[in-house]
Amino acid sequence: MRRLNLALAERSYPILISGGLLSRADLILPFLRTARVALVSNTTVAPLYLDVLAQALEKVGVGVTPIILPDGEAHKNWASLNLIYDALLENRFDRSTTIVALGGGVIGDLAGFAAATYQRGVPFIQIPTTLLSQVDSSVGGKTGINHPRGKNMVGAFWQPRLVLADTDTLKTLLDRELSAGLAEVIKYGLIRDLPFLDWLEANMESLLARDGELLGHAIERSCANKAEVVAADEYETAAAGGRALLNLGHTFGHAIETGMGYGEWLHGEAVAAGTMMAVELSRRLGWLSAADVERVRTLLVRAGLPVKGADLGAERYLELMSHDKKVVAGSLRLVLLKALGDAVTYADAPREEIVAAIESCCRG
Ligand code: NAD
Ligand code: GLY
Repeated sequence: MRRLNLALAERSYPILISGGLLSRADLILPFLRTARVALVSNTTVAPLYLDVLAQALEKVGVGVTPIILPDGEAHKNWASLNLIYDALLENRFDRSTTIVALGGGVIGDLAGFAAATYQRGVPFIQIPTTLLSQVDSSVGGKTGINHPRGKNMVGAFWQPRLVLADTDTLKTLLDRELSAGLAEVIKYGLIRDLPFLDWLEANMESLLARDGELLGHAIERSCANKAEVVAADEYETAAAGGRALLNLGHTFGHAIETGMGYGEWLHGEAVAAGTMMAVELSRRLGWLSAADVERVRTLLVRAGLPVKGADLGAERYLELMSHDKKVVAGSLRLVLLKALGDAVTYADAPREEIVAAIESCCRG
């Protein structure tokens, strides 16, 4: 088993990565305060994986109350959150209840926000089942829901007690979802880990073929990068750089997700097209070469990801991007690349260059 630690003093937690973890209730038991959990999942994941996890927990004496939500990014909203609160109250769960998220990033973000807010906060465990959630969303404690006007606009920081990434679950993931997860994996190489970018270039086809050993390595290396960044800047308050760097491509990508309607583009797909915009803008600012831009484009295409943005029009992108959480006092801070493997936050990109980068990535 691969084992990492997110170091946050008394709120530190382990990230365990391996096949076969869903049936390892012994790994979960030490993190429970009572012998009862609320297990949040959705209509796609529950039929595949709820039984094996619930049976393992029940075998060690833990009662499981399933809360099954509708599937999809379009349901990452108040209505789903209320379904969780309703079930918790109906079943008289108290402040010692642990909420367990079994699913992708949508379930993790929703269940985490419910855990952060139910009775002012209850313990929380992440069991991510998509590549994207195993490399990114289950780690670091960002939780929340979408607002019609902006992605992830309502939420809270609430760290899990444990992250259990069972790599066997990736076998049932749709190819398109596997690719979406690779967008966030490539992100770590681009922002801070050039040797990992080289490794991804050398192994992309084997990752797409779901080689378990290589996927395990990619998840471990991604989580190690994320854990280091989060440990240094948990609440994304660093004046420069810090946790904000994990949002490479996200400001443009969130505009695509919101502008097109949640669920139309997968989050990882929008991040991939947004990454091309950030990379193109970095070239326009003189930081990256044309060859660097092509290198990124080639890798994203090999990963099965879109590199052309949604045709919303630059003005609509800018309007949507003005709601970004990295806007400080009206000034938009973008994550850009000084070089491949070296990201910065930058608030001084000229408007016309941002527009040109968006337009060039939406053509062709
Ligand atoms: P998702 O949760 O919608 O899952 C993708 C699809 O795969 C869904 O239909 C889901 O039901 C299905 N699925 C899940 N596991 C499966 C499995 N093992 N086999 C078959 N199908 C399975 O999407 P996602 O890509 O996991 O996560 C995207 C979400 O994560 C977005 O809302 C994004 O904003 C959020 N996110 C959050 C953070 C964070 O730090 N909290 C970071 C990145 C992304
Ligand atoms: N996915 C960005 C973050 O966790 O900060």
